[in-house]
Amino acid sequence: MSSINVTRSILPPIDKYIEYVRSIWESGQLTNNGPLVKEFELLLATEFGVKHVVLVSSGTVAIQIALKALGIEGVVLTTPFSFVATSSAIAWQGIEFDFADIDAESLCLSPDKLSEQMSPDVGAIMGTHVFGNACDIEGIEKISKKWGVPVIYDAAHTYGATYKGRSLMAYGDVSILSLHATKLFHSVEGGVLATNDESLAKKFSYMRNFGFASPEAFQGVGINGKMSEFHAAMGLSLLGNMSEVISARIELVDLYDSYFYEIEEVSRPVQSDHAISNAAYYPIILPSETAVLGVLKELECEGVFARRYFYPCLTELPYSRKSDVPIAEDISLRVLCLPLYYGLTNEEVVKIVNCVKMYFSSCLSK
Ligand SMILES: Cc1ncc(COP(=O)(O)O)c(C=O)c1O
Repeated sequence: MSSINVTRSILPPIDKYIEYVRSIWESGQLTNNGPLVKEFELLLATEFGVKHVVLVSSGTVAIQIALKALGIEGVVLTTPFSFVATSSAIAWQGIEFDFADIDAESLCLSPDKLSEQMSPDVGAIMGTHVFGNACDIEGIEKISKKWGVPVIYDAAHTYGATYKGRSLMAYGDVSILSLHATKLFHSVEGGVLATNDESLAKKFSYMRNFGFASPEAFQGVGINGKMSEFHAAMGLSLLGNMSEVISARIELVDLYDSYFYEIEEVSRPVQSDHAISNAAYYPIILPSETAVLGVLKELECEGVFARRYFYPCLTELPYSRKSDVPIAEDISLRVLCLPLYYGLTNEEVVKIVNCVKMYFSSCLSK
């Protein structure tokens, strides 16, 4: 029995990758903002409809550079329902963070809860477009304007997702994307900083490169967060095929939905108004943690490996403040991401759905 994992990385046709790699041999430039990184940046900026895209070595480094470039002072108010990197990157910068609760439908930061927690101590807002679903962008913008603080979007999951017809990467003062191999689009490892602010983009560029303004002049403090030409080559090789990949994933989501629609115990996050999904993940929300553990067991018996994502809630981090976020704590106990990737077959979806059904019918017969 071959196993089905929660995700599987896509790979381009090997000849396509080799073509780009050959160009690296020709240019002789392996890293340090080479021609492939520059080409990749331009293509992404056009696709996202933003003025500036700066590529870095990971989504986590992108968050760290965004925080540094914005010169955040005070507390970052963020979401407790996200991947650990959202909080740990803030802590790593030596910046305090606190949580506001999420909206129970979209699973993204709730503007109402955010507003209750705003104070002069807050220096920035960081929301995650959870599973590629849009935050309440207008609601968050209103709060950021009222308090005069910037918004950073952890848009790690959003490649291909839109809000009001624009890429989700086009919102906020800065948006960051992860290009990690497990993401629907990737460069093996990599991250994107997107902004319309030219002075911020300049800071991103020197900060990712030790602070160099030119080979013999320093602009300010920096780290090594550069993307290599080999990583850019992978991203460029995959780029042309992404609409087909996303369409295939959307069909799989529709298929899952068509079965789960009939299962009362399974609910799904609600897609935000005006948002179009990229089918980055297939999260389901079950009635209890017991059900999550039972379904996981049923799936594992059939060689299917789902993932409790995001679990545990970020309030459990040893360096988190204790916060009153009952919705996020509850959802993180009851959420499960089922396998979803390009190449997953309809038969495999049916097998996964049957495992979930099996668990609930066995509960009924007890
Ligand atoms: C929501 C979120 N933020 C940040 C990251 C970090 O991205 P990276 O793995 O590229 O550092 C991830 C990666 O999984 C993520 O899911």
